[in-house]
Amino acid sequence: MKVGIDLIHFATSDYFLGLDTFASQKNIDVEKFTIGIGQEKMSIAPPDEDVVTLAAKAAKAILDQVDPQKITAVLFATESGVDQSKSAGAFLHGLLNLPKRCRVIELKHACYAGAAALQMATALVKSNVKEKILVIAADIAKYDVDSSGEATQGCGAVAMLVKDSPRILALESGSGYYTDDVMDFWRPNHRETALVDGKYSTMVYLNSLKHAWTHFNEETGRTFQDIDYFCYHIPFTKMAEKAHKTLIKKTKSEVSDAQFEEQLSYGQSYNRIVGNSYSASLFIGFCSLLDFAKQNLVNKRVSFFSYGSGCVAEFFSGVIQPEYQSVLMTASHQQQILQRQALSYAEYLNFYHGSDLSQENCILPEHNRGSFRLAAIEEHKRIYIAR
Ligand code: COA
Repeated sequence: MKVGIDLIHFATSDYFLGLDTFASQKNIDVEKFTIGIGQEKMSIAPPDEDVVTLAAKAAKAILDQVDPQKITAVLFATESGVDQSKSAGAFLHGLLNLPKRCRVIELKHACYAGAAALQMATALVKSNVKEKILVIAADIAKYDVDSSGEATQGCGAVAMLVKDSPRILALESGSGYYTDDVMDFWRPNHRETALVDGKYSTMVYLNSLKHAWTHFNEETGRTFQDIDYFCYHIPFTKMAEKAHKTLIKKTKSEVSDAQFEEQLSYGQSYNRIVGNSYSASLFIGFCSLLDFAKQNLVNKRVSFFSYGSGCVAEFFSGVIQPEYQSVLMTASHQQQILQRQALSYAEYLNFYHGSDLSQENCILPEHNRGSFRLAAIEEHKRIYIAR
């Protein structure tokens, strides 16, 4: 039985900060960002946008096409949780009017949890073909102002419908994984922003890739040459290029510049202008490959490398299905990107410092133009509205 991604759609916020604006504010050469880390813009969430509203926006386009009453589970991957106890998935379940006969849970391990949710959903469907699972990966990447991470912020959510006979990607069995207890990136409970040892995290990412690849290769027998397109976790697009070079070296493969470009570049276009979206970024990269590839991808094998600081990594693969082009939501992705509004640095700071959500009651100013927004906090309860 084939199991995998039947539909995929991503959402981001209505606003962005250009790295040109950022560079001139900080008096830094813009090429450090456009060339050095390979980023042009970062999506910025206003205070009335969070992972629940981003996820709702991403999932709505899927639920417009399938009967929401048939969804049997929501696996919500995020490291930007909105509550220490109640899962973001439960808020989403309410906003989208999903059926009561449904399981909902939030999964966390830095940027890795989206891949974990996808693998778990696949296993659930394999054990019961009736399962139709909504997998969400949603995050808001936020670092301290004036820290080295500030240029690598962003936000986004990906929704995937995982079922049997998938129309986009059939996941292949066997994967390679790797875990090591390291402190390259972390966010203690009392902090809104992440702490990161940036250079170290890059090193651990690449080391984890080598280990996960070796395991993948041993488990599946698949080689570098068996893979047509490579999707990597993309905190910034230059990281994916470093990863691909590392894998080429590790596998002693011969790859021309044109092949390198073909294997990697389609999967980076959205990430270059959305910024980091932690758990969602690998799958926004996959949307980018699907939407921008010039060749027909049917029967092509795509690999996925997920890396979550701290750290857990996994390398797995899937095969693109014959009907994929007829179910892509490219127009919706591109429309959202085009409709984003540019922020000045001062406007970005205004959103950044936002509203104090630790108050017992507050009403949030209306900036989020999407179908779902966080409207208020009442007696410490988050009040979302759909419109
Ligand atoms: N023109 C072109 N390239 C330039 C440049 C310029 N004017 N100025 C600098 N660069 C290059 C540097 O050579 C470097 O390239 P390299 O990585 O290939 O050596 C790159 O731009 C970044 O410059 P650097 O001085 O290392 O930047 P930084 O100290 O600000 O740190 C990150 C960059 C990515 C480590 C930092 O933004 C960060 O910590 N981000 C968050 C953590 C993260 O995303 N980790 C990834 C693993 S999950």
